[in-house]
Amino acid sequence: MIALTQAERMTTEQYIHHYTPTKIDGDFVGKHVVTVEQFARPDMEVLFQAAYTLRKRIHAGDRSVLDLCAGKVMATLFFEASTRTDMSFQAAMLRLGGEVIATSGGVQFSSVYKGENLPDTIRAVACYADAIVLRHPEVGSSYQAAYYLDQLAERLGHQSVVISGGDGVGEHPTQALLDLFTILDYKDSLDHLQVTMVGDLRYGRTVHSLSKLIAIYGATHISLNFVSPDALQMPTNVVKFLNESGIQVNQTSELNEVIGESDVIYWTRIQQERFANPADYDAIADHFIMTPSVLAGAKDEAILMHPLPRKHEMGTPADHDVLDNDARSVYFNQMENGMFVRMALLAKVLGVREI
Ligand code: ASP
Ligand code: CP
Repeated sequence: MIALTQAERMTTEQYIHHYTPTKIDGDFVGKHVVTVEQFARPDMEVLFQAAYTLRKRIHAGDRSVLDLCAGKVMATLFFEASTRTDMSFQAAMLRLGGEVIATSGGVQFSSVYKGENLPDTIRAVACYADAIVLRHPEVGSSYQAAYYLDQLAERLGHQSVVISGGDGVGEHPTQALLDLFTILDYKDSLDHLQVTMVGDLRYGRTVHSLSKLIAIYGATHISLNFVSPDALQMPTNVVKFLNESGIQVNQTSELNEVIGESDVIYWTRIQQERFANPADYDAIADHFIMTPSVLAGAKDEAILMHPLPRKHEMGTPADHDVLDNDARSVYFNQMENGMFVRMALLAKVLGVREI
């Protein structure tokens, strides 16, 4: 029997400390994407410019983009439910002219069902695909995948990249990229904005990544308001990162204190699937419901975002109809932008130079 190395004995979460992902630093080619901390503002500007260009070309019906990733293969490996991340990555790759593979019938029909672990699964997939989009319930899973892919690359002589599609309650870096792209689409700059994130800030990975990405992008006179029940406050490590980046945050459970001043309102779902005790979920499930009357308290030029899917934190289906027709609601635009930002990201990590 082969002895396990120290690395193999680590828990998935420990890979965050054990594996340091390479910064993008002006060159995306062959880089894994596991945390927003890999990006600097110039990297975001390059990526967003490419996403704008691709959006314009796709909306104009330009089919030449279909050649950009011809001959490349992307695999999806989703151990948690997804509609947008999974399908927008698939659509992105297809619209770039690449191919998409997944185990027939989803990961429950892969050899994971026979007990195969993540390191072996990811290495199998890397033999067949240039890029792997991974969503997994454990924090650090994409770091662990990146660690094993780097080792495999030495043996095989070619590198496959992993792109995180969400690591448990940790991060969702590509969501943050599309969120920031959307904010800049409507607001041009982050300077002098009040950004208010509401709901489950503890378990919601999108707000962990977005608030850090905003801090890295940088802005003068930006205010971040975190509105949540006490039990669902933003994790202290995220607040520490923000403070160390020079951003003071206002944490409150009173939406009324901040909604009227907010330029960006980022609503989130209470992450029911993360609660060990259903009673804990029930105790806070009805906090912070966005309805037309709540939105009436916001500025006319505010934007309302949501990573989706939405449940009752956006009111009833009748409330949805009213909210969806409000010019301030940009969550469907945000959702569409996901495909363009992911197209840009895939093209960049796969070495496309001409966008
Ligand atoms: N879709 C987002 C995520 O996977 C947000 C959510 O599920 O509430 O993190
Ligand atoms: N926003 C988001 O990640 O959506 P899915 O969970 O549907 O992928």
